[in-house]
Amino acid sequence: MICLGIESSCDETSVAIVKNGREVLANVVSTQIPIHKKFGGVVPEIASRKHLTNIAFVVKEALDNAKLDFKDIDYIGVTYGPGLIGALLVGVAYAKSLAYALNIPIVPTHHIEGHIAANYLTYESLKPPFMALVVSGGHTHLINVKDYTDFEIIGKTRDDAVGEAFDKVARVLGLPYPGGPEVSKLAREGEFTYKLPKTKFDNYDFSFSGIKTAVINIAHKEGESLKREDLACSFEETVTDELVDTCIKAMKDLNINKVVLAGGVSANLVLRDKLLKATKNRDYECFLPDLKYCTDNAAMIASAAHYNYVCGKSFDIKDKLDLNAIANLKIGE
Ligand code: KG4
Ligand code: ZN
Repeated sequence: MICLGIESSCDETSVAIVKNGREVLANVVSTQIPIHKKFGGVVPEIASRKHLTNIAFVVKEALDNAKLDFKDIDYIGVTYGPGLIGALLVGVAYAKSLAYALNIPIVPTHHIEGHIAANYLTYESLKPPFMALVVSGGHTHLINVKDYTDFEIIGKTRDDAVGEAFDKVARVLGLPYPGGPEVSKLAREGEFTYKLPKTKFDNYDFSFSGIKTAVINIAHKEGESLKREDLACSFEETVTDELVDTCIKAMKDLNINKVVLAGGVSANLVLRDKLLKATKNRDYECFLPDLKYCTDNAAMIASAAHYNYVCGKSFDIKDKLDLNAIANLKIGE
């Protein structure tokens, strides 16, 4: 079965063609980062307009790359939430029109389920159940993935997402958007010298606003004498420790011995390394998504859509003309 996947929840217009949820025939990502960089972050209105001008060209490029035609597509998977509402609407409206014109099913897909599915593209034989540590610009979740379409949230951030904290720390350190990779690059030149607050809850929740505020206060207090690279390194070390410690605690308590990393921050090399080491020490299995599938892309959406499709979560477009984007869509809905 061939799925055409569409992703437009934030600042990447992406279209992919994936066979049976695992084999990527094309994955085109048209990024808007250079446009939003000038503003220090994503401007929602500009993002929607760019998606609108890009989408038809990105679809054409994906079909050309896969050497396929519209008639070869069996169903369409589309991110319908969570994300920026105007941005999501472009993908959803396009997907609905295309499904209607081709008279093929539509599979509304959750963005975070897509991030988790990025691991199915990386590991051919990976199957649930497993724990997912989801770390992105909008989410920090520990999810018990019981089956391809059965998700139980074990813990989540009580305030900022970890990617959001990386982006805010980057801004304070004078680094451009998107901040995560920039903070990480600077951290490589520094040492772990600043003691920053770490949050510990009785359950498996996270919190990153305290550490973000601490970083801002240190930066303002030290001014010119600030060792930016040391602060970047201390921030990265502290947040990645918090993520890995909580994840391992949850795995131990819930007796889950397999974990996948997911979301944009899974491109962070320190986090990848720490999770790999911590799981190896306990004989747990650890799966890290291929770097090209860490940040937003439509291949991961097409993979997640495939499993929704197989599990009967697809719709005849004529029965689903009211499909809408949902900015704050919860996982499992
Ligand atoms: O998953 P994603 O592409 O978009 C959302 O769904 O939010 O994640 C984007 C986030 C941004 O906050 C970005 O700074 C962060 O992922 N990110 C990183 C790295 N690469 C991307 N954070 C830390 N280290 C990285 N190497
Ligand atoms: Zn994402």
